[in-house]
Amino acid sequence: MRAALLTDPGSPLEIVDDLDLGDPRSGEVCVAVSHSGICHSDLTIIEGGYLFPAVLGHEAAGVVAAVGDGVGHVSVGDKVMITPLAPCGHCEGCARQQASRCPQAMSFAAGTRPDATSPLSRRGQLVHRGVGVGAFAERTVVPASGVVRLDDDVPLEVACLIGCAVQTGVGAVLNTAVVERGSTVVVTGLGGVGISAVQGARVAGASRIIVSDPVESRRQAALRLGATDAVGGDPAELKAAVAEGTGGWGADYAFETAGVAGLVRLGLDVTGAGGTTVVVGAPLPEHTTDIGSVALFMLQQKRLLGSLLGDCWPSRDIPRLVGLWQRGELDLESMITHRVPLSGVNEGFDRLRSAEGVRTVVEVAAPA
Ligand SMILES: NC(=O)c1ccc[n+]([C@@H]2O[C@H](COP(=O)([O-])OP(=O)(O)OC[C@H]3O[C@@H](n4cnc5c(N)ncnc54)[C@H](O)[C@@H]3O)[C@@H](O)[C@H]2O)c1
Ligand SMILES: [Zn+2]
Ligand SMILES: [Zn+2]
Repeated sequence: MRAALLTDPGSPLEIVDDLDLGDPRSGEVCVAVSHSGICHSDLTIIEGGYLFPAVLGHEAAGVVAAVGDGVGHVSVGDKVMITPLAPCGHCEGCARQQASRCPQAMSFAAGTRPDATSPLSRRGQLVHRGVGVGAFAERTVVPASGVVRLDDDVPLEVACLIGCAVQTGVGAVLNTAVVERGSTVVVTGLGGVGISAVQGARVAGASRIIVSDPVESRRQAALRLGATDAVGGDPAELKAAVAEGTGGWGADYAFETAGVAGLVRLGLDVTGAGGTTVVVGAPLPEHTTDIGSVALFMLQQKRLLGSLLGDCWPSRDIPRLVGLWQRGELDLESMITHRVPLSGVNEGFDRLRSAEGVRTVVEVAAPA
């Protein structure tokens, strides 16, 4: 089949048409991919050089092409979206509905099944399934628990965004932080993930949503979608805006959605006593930061949390997020600023590098 393949670290993806895809095993589903958004985590894999050869693309939707044994919740022909964290349903983590504690779900990071095999191969060599999905390809085989059936009124293009940016950003606000009505919120970094966090904060009823990003067009997009104040990338500017916007108290919540380690410290600085900083961005593991005096956590009761895919549990949260879109509470259409065919995927990555638009969606299947 046809796919965009990462063959070497740092190189552009190569469009190949000789990729092999195995049939779905028991508990797996084969999805004919129609749309796949371009997320910064794919770019981090390209530049990080730790997973190749690989088919990237993990923010995806499509139509079920085949199901393995024991799969009952979706059938061939169903419209579905895919979520990268597919829980096993049986382990201790799953009993707590916490995908980050489930070994099957966490196998996404290795790009293989938990048994180190992959449904993807080329010329007999294993090909990784980037971020557990591998959707810059005509079809993919994924665990059934990561495949969620969609109502007919949900366009696949809109649904794909929920697969990563939306569940990550909105989930960080509603699930991880549980932002209360009237809270003051800071969001640093306004790509698909940060804009989703802004929308989540609006849904939660935040009274002030103060955002920062060096890119003017992204600040404008955030202001259209719920931000109340926007500043550039200068930390002093953000501190001044937060002081002004919170009457000097500091923010209740700060979300780091740029993937810049130092912004975690900035979040701790701009939140007030009792405030919560949430790490959503995913810099490379070697990017570290100094979080300052730990006594502050005790004296000022500050909290520092991490959020993986918005702490979402597929069967509970995906329908909830779709429902927010259906009721007009989340504007997902306007987050899609560019569309490219599979052959234009590298152009989409160039756009992501220069922070042009918000999300580029790869139309893997030609639009009807
Ligand atoms: N936690 C998770 O589960 C999860 C899921 C998806 C993505 N991510 C990560 O979230 C991050 C954002 O992803 P995205 O696809 O939205 O990326 P993106 O590249 O579209 O957006 C990042 C934004 O951060 C801005 N930025 C850079 N430096 C900044 C600074 N100093 N201050 C303020 N803004 C700054 C950029 O201008 C850009 O607009 C990435 O690190 C990605 O890997 C995490
Ligand atoms: Zn992603
Ligand atoms: Zn599990």
